[in-house]
This record gives sequence, structure tokens and C-alpha cells, in this order.
Amino acid sequence: MPTVAVVILAAGEGSRMRSSVPKVLHRVAGKPVVAHVVDAAREAGADGIALVVPPEYGAIQSVIGDEVAYAVQDPPRGTGDAANCGLRAVGDADLVIVLNGDGPCIQAATLNAMLESRGDADGVFLTVDRADPTGYGRVIRDDDGSLLRIVEEADCDEHQRALRDVNAGVYLFDAKVLGAALAALSPDNAQNELYLTDTLEVIRQQGGRVALYHHDDVEEVQGINNRAELARSEETLRQRNVAELMAAGVTMRSPATVFVDSGVTVGADTILYPGVTLEAGTSVGAHCTIYPNVRIARSTIGDGVTVLDGTVVEDAIVENDASLGPYARLRPGAHVCVGAKVGNFVEMKNSRLGPGSKAGHLSYLGDADIGPGANIGAGTITCNYDGKNKHRTEIGDGAFIGSNTALIAPVRVGAGAYVGAGSTITKDVADGALGVARGRQILKEGWAARKNNDQD
Ligand code: UD1
Ligand code: CA
Repeated sequence: MPTVAVVILAAGEGSRMRSSVPKVLHRVAGKPVVAHVVDAAREAGADGIALVVPPEYGAIQSVIGDEVAYAVQDPPRGTGDAANCGLRAVGDADLVIVLNGDGPCIQAATLNAMLESRGDADGVFLTVDRADPTGYGRVIRDDDGSLLRIVEEADCDEHQRALRDVNAGVYLFDAKVLGAALAALSPDNAQNELYLTDTLEVIRQQGGRVALYHHDDVEEVQGINNRAELARSEETLRQRNVAELMAAGVTMRSPATVFVDSGVTVGADTILYPGVTLEAGTSVGAHCTIYPNVRIARSTIGDGVTVLDGTVVEDAIVENDASLGPYARLRPGAHVCVGAKVGNFVEMKNSRLGPGSKAGHLSYLGDADIGPGANIGAGTITCNYDGKNKHRTEIGDGAFIGSNTALIAPVRVGAGAYVGAGSTITKDVADGALGVARGRQILKEGWAARKNNDQD
């Protein structure tokens, strides 16, 4: 088996994005463009990966990590020069796959199919037939149909510009042949750059054989040069992720309106209503129902969970058979235990709601540890912030907190204890005790009639 390295080109300026962020770091389907490409290379089983980057590549390195080699290209003198930098960084692999770093939809299966199709070719160029070829290099053939070269759009004449067979930016080379071809490139073109695409003609001139690998899925190999193309890749990945979930047994009432980032998992027989967004780092269990306009990010949701309309969940854990919303907000560190209920307009942060406990309406639970079977009345607020520091509130097993209670942390309400409605609790309430802290009601008999007489 020949060894296969992957070189990913990500040092271009991406000026057509009109952005202060490098093009390959824009996010699609929950992760940076180039991270999708790196993941496809890994999944294809690459023996080594080199990422060609600009001199300031700290931001790229911080998202991709150190399991790839970084090859700095300075200045960016074109894709041929970039491939050369990458080739030097991958060592002595037999074969090299070169990928544009701005094509996030590429799949490992396609790279492997291209490898299998190679035969004895020294270079394989992946091509697609694009209804609108704008921006892509055109594949030029002889009158008898044999391959001649690739011509970039900026260098095309009118006849060439009309061709729809384009270079996709996905290549496979014999490593030695690629090295020799790159050494022979010249920047004799409209952009005054070294074009990787010129290796097609150079390899042929040097006596090598180049094959085209025609791919049917045009969307899979789209490149991103501007915001419109960024959005198009987002849509391609969204459709792919949604289709994968449906194939795995997830029901969607309106798949066109559901957003699922790459890597998100959802169990069978879960139902997603229109407008649900499941962001990267999220897993949802089986037999859940997620109602309209819910966003869940970086969270773990168990089985049989109901999430009602308009709920937001970030960096949280929700155990089996719990129920959230409508209009609940789970902020980072919220942990809703099995069978617990977080109702309308309830916000949780860095808090645990014990098994079977209920916070049904209009509450803020911040920095709180709530045991099992507790009942948190409507309008209960944990006052966790004294203006300088955050403090914790502890609510014991089976405790009952009356409506409109303010719990001034740090404070503890014991197991089985009661707090009277409308209390402002500043001292601990012992296990099994009743704590009431509110103004006493006074009653003035006949007061209304006296008041009305005064006015006569
Ligand atoms: C390139 C191809 C074109 C193909 C298209 C497919 C060339 C010359 N043209 O055009 O035939 O149809 O991709 O999407 O290759 N890069 C560097 N260093 C550089 C220049 C670019 O690393 O000096 C990187 C970019 O970051 C990008 C990739 O190479 O990820 C492609 O560069 P880009 O400028 O987007 O090429 P296209 O014009 O799209
Ligand atoms: Ca491009």
C-alpha cells in the first residue's frame, strides 16, 4: 500500500470575502471552513496532513491543533507555490492529495474513490460539470478530446469561458512527479502567480500521465470565495446533516427549516419541529420532542425529553424524561436531572435541578443546588450576586419554595422545609422547618366605607 499524505492550501488572502477574519476560519455548519477539510482528510485515513498557512497562523492553529504539520507560505504566490510549501512539510509519502482549504463540503469517500481510480496516472484532477462555471478553472481539451490544460477564468478567452467542465480544486499526485512539475511552473499568467493547475500541462510535457476524475456531486466540491458562496456551502452541509439524521430515524416536520451543525447526533424517533437549531457539540437522545424555534448548543440531552417552543439551551445537561419551556433559558452549567421540569420563563445558570424537581414559572436559578423532588414556586429568584461576588443557594430534597420568594445567597433551605410565599430569605431554613419572611398582613374592617364617606 502506498502512503498517502494530504496537503491543504489555506494561505490565500481571501480578499473577496471582505473580512478581517481569514477566509478559511469563517464558520459553516458549526466549525471553521478549513476544519471540515482537515476532518475529511483524517477520515480518509491520511498518513500525514500538512496545512499551508500564512505567517500569522495562530488563530488557525488554535482551532486545528497540533496533529497536523504547518507549512508557512510567505508571501502567497499562488496555489502552485502553496502546494510546494506543503509538499516539503509532508516528508516522503508516495502519493499526495492536494485540497483547497476553502472547500468545506468535501467528503472522505470521494477522496478514497479518487485514490482507487488512479491506476498508473501520475496526477488525477477532480472535475465537475457546473451549470454556472464562474470563478473556476476550465478544463481545455484538444479537438480530438484529449486533455490539454486548465485555464483560470482570468486567463480565459471567450470560447473557453463558456466551457462548463471545471477543475474542482481536489487533486491526487505521485509525490515525486508533483515535486518535479512544481519546480517547472512559471507565473506567466493574468494574476502573476504560480498556478497548481498548470501542473496538468507540465506533467504531460514531462512524459507523465494525467487522468480526470469526473464527480457528479457539484455541491460537494464548491469553493468559497465570497459570502454568497459561504452561505451556499452552509446550505449544502445543512441539507447533508439533516438527511443523515432522517436516515438514522429522526422525524422532521419541515426539514428545510431545521439547522443541524456537523457532528451533532440525534437518537431515533425524536421529532424536530420547524425552526429547530442544533449547534455543534450537541447530542440529543431518542424519543425526544423538540418544538418550534428552539436552539440547543454544546449540550447533552437525554432520551424522552420534551423541549417546548422558544427555548434556548447552551452548555447544559438535560437528563432523561425532563421537560423544558416554553421560553426557558438554560445557560452554561445548567443541569436538569431525570424527570425534572423547567417551565415558562425560567432561567438557569450553573445550577442543578434534582430528579423530579419542578420550577414551573418565571424563576431565576443561578449557582443553586436543588435536591430531588423539590418544588420551586412561581417567581422564585436566587439572589446569587451581591454586587461583587457570586454565592450559592442550596435547596434540600423535597423542599417547597413558595411563590415570589427571594433567596439571598449564600443560603440553605433544608430537606423537606417550607418557605412561605413572598419571603425574602436571608438566613438558613432548617430541615423540615417553615421559613417566612415578609410583612404581616393587617386588616382594617370597614375601611373602604370610611374612605368613601370622607370623600363625600
Ligand atoms: C482555484 C483553482 C481553480 C479551481 C478553484 C476551485 C488555481 C490556480 N485555481 O481557484 O482552477 O477551479 O480553485 O475552487 O489553483 N491559496 C494558498 N496560497 C496562495 C493562493 C491560494 O494557500 O498563494 C489557497 C487559498 O487559501 C484557498 C486555495 O488555495 O484555500 C484556493 O485558492 P483561491 O484563490 O480560492 O483559488 P480559486 O481562484 O478559487
Ligand atoms: Ca477558491
